[in-house]
Amino acid sequence: MSDWIRVAALDDVPPGTLHGVKVERTAIVLANVDGDVYALRDRCSHADFPLHDGVLMGETLECVHHGAKFDVCSGKATGLPAIRPVQSYEVEVRDDDVFIRLG
Ligand code: FES
Repeated sequence: MSDWIRVAALDDVPPGTLHGVKVERTAIVLANVDGDVYALRDRCSHADFPLHDGVLMGETLECVHHGAKFDVCSGKATGLPAIRPVQSYEVEVRDDDVFIRLG
């Protein structure tokens, strides 16, 4: 089991926004849903483009490239053209810092 890794300050990902980070050569997108932070692999399962430049609407991340939708809480694909999930990661917020576990 891997350790928790600090990936951002909480201020880097205000509520309603996405924020892309690199962790040990893995691209991660953080999503803040009403103060709860989630982390997904920053690669759309449709055509491998980054997700961090997409749009966050509630718990739904819409990929800006072809419109696929994902549930940021689980990584599940909820809108075509994506049919496969993206990997999600455990997140902890400690004080003003965001930590994830790559797993
Ligand atoms: S790359 Fe995301 S919808 Fe096509």
